[in-house]
Amino acid sequence: MSAALSITSLSKAFAGVRAIDDLSFEVPEGKAVALIGPNGAGKTTVFNLVSGVYPVDQGVILVKGVDVTNMPSRKRISTGVARSFQNIRLMAHLSVLENLLVGQHVRNASLWSLLTPYRLAPNHRWKREALKALAESGLDGYAYDTVGALPYGVRKRIDLVRATLAGASVLMLDEPAAGLNPTETNALREDLRALKSRGLTLLVVEHDMQFVESVCENVVVLNFGQKIAEGPLSVVRQDRLVREAYLGAEEET
Ligand SMILES: Nc1ncnc2c1ncn2[C@@H]1O[C@H](COP(=O)(O)OP(=O)(O)OP(=O)(O)O)[C@@H](O)[C@H]1O
Ligand SMILES: [Mg+2]
Repeated sequence: MSAALSITSLSKAFAGVRAIDDLSFEVPEGKAVALIGPNGAGKTTVFNLVSGVYPVDQGVILVKGVDVTNMPSRKRISTGVARSFQNIRLMAHLSVLENLLVGQHVRNASLWSLLTPYRLAPNHRWKREALKALAESGLDGYAYDTVGALPYGVRKRIDLVRATLAGASVLMLDEPAAGLNPTETNALREDLRALKSRGLTLLVVEHDMQFVESVCENVVVLNFGQKIAEGPLSVVRQDRLVREAYLGAEEET
């Protein structure tokens, strides 16, 4: 099976501290892998390295076989990799649809066309695509609502729609279920299952293990930037090193 995302011998230090230490793992095409580990283990840093927020110190990152290791961040989007952030990045004063369209512009367009009044083009292809994506998640009823007025769980799901637009095929989600109530979590779970059934590949950072178990085939466990275990959650959670890593983290708090 081919890997949609392949990370080999990846390392990154901040001020001499190894945040990611010789890390290797793969996410097979169409599968979901969870990246788990205690606070500060390096999970978000992996996302930042894959999306090009920071340069790597060492290692190779392939997205669908394309070497993106030294590719500018903007260009990586064209390989199909997209992400959500630990904190939602939507503009509260704009409508849902406007947020999605701004995202489309940032991805596709020149600076000049950013300034064109996209609201005047009712039948624009991007608008049709955005409405279709909303409808696929059952969120089309919110298209013209102002984002700031919507419940947190709906905003998170809209942020997910934003990340999937523009042909994303490898999606990295940083704590998608954090702060959601059980109903919202179920809706998100269904969204992610639907994305997988459409062939998308997911790399998910998530602390909710029930959620991980119901969405992801495999987990990769990080501790101090190193991979300490990998496999199905049911197996990995029995692992001595994994238990120690989590107990250690609990004792600190
Ligand atoms: N820009 C940065 N500058 C300096 N240190 C950083 C930077 N980004 C991350 N780090 C450090 O790298 C380590 C890994 O951080 P990271 O944010 O990747 O952890 P995490 O696993 O996502 O944690 P959490 O579960 O709390 O979100 C931490 O020690 C953190 O302080
Ligand atoms: Mg993090």
